[in-house]
Amino acid sequence: MAHSTPASARLIAGNWKMNGGAGQLREAAKVAAALAGKIGGPRVAICPPATLLHRLSEQLRGSGVLTGGQDCHVEAAGAFTGDISADLLVEAGARLAILGHSERRQGHGESDALVARKAQAASDVGLEPIVCVGETLIEREGGRALEVVRRQLRGSLPPGLAGRAFAIAYEPVWAIGTGARASEDDIVEMHRAIRAELMNLTSHGGRVSILYGGSVTADGAAAILAAPEVGGVLVGGASLRAESFLAIIEAAER
Ligand code: PGA
Repeated sequence: MAHSTPASARLIAGNWKMNGGAGQLREAAKVAAALAGKIGGPRVAICPPATLLHRLSEQLRGSGVLTGGQDCHVEAAGAFTGDISADLLVEAGARLAILGHSERRQGHGESDALVARKAQAASDVGLEPIVCVGETLIEREGGRALEVVRRQLRGSLPPGLAGRAFAIAYEPVWAIGTGARASEDDIVEMHRAIRAELMNLTSHGGRVSILYGGSVTADGAAAILAAPEVGGVLVGGASLRAESFLAIIEAAER
């Protein structure tokens, strides 16, 4: 258990992806109710689809559970049909923004350079970017996981983040939504490499939270969270139900 992050410094973030009609709001209400009055636990955030962000933020106001966006545009406003700016996320109540998720990198061709501009835009309006990195299966099997993630980090973090709040999420692409999870040894190795890179890249690199993401469930969460340099988890599927998300939060309270 040595070197694990104190509970209150952990971040447990739910990524609802493109899921969530209004019924999903009830799950968030259950999460907030279960956490009411608790102190010293991890920071908890839910990143819903943009259509629910304002309602969810209003619903969670004062509960301590934060909300976040899943992407943002680099510009503040303008003729960008279908996009959402960091300013609009803030107006809708968001405090964080997931950026450079592999589903954006792969499905929308987002480059490291674009992710860096998005991280800058989000940070400039006071959002805490959660910048995602992670290798594909081919890259891991080819022995290139560390090299790929280091390159993504160098390319996706703008110099303007120096001294500002942001988090990294290490999400091996092959572990997302597949039920396959990186081994604890691989997580520790990667998180240590990310920490070393962060120390090179920014003066407060030693304090930036590094989350793990990819098929996190309640049963694996405690061991992952106890690992050195793991500052929290980014949770997809298991964040959609209050019961499974709360079980992960509970694991982070210990
Ligand atoms: P998963 O998704 O927990 O469903 O694997 C994680 C993520 O994509 O952030």
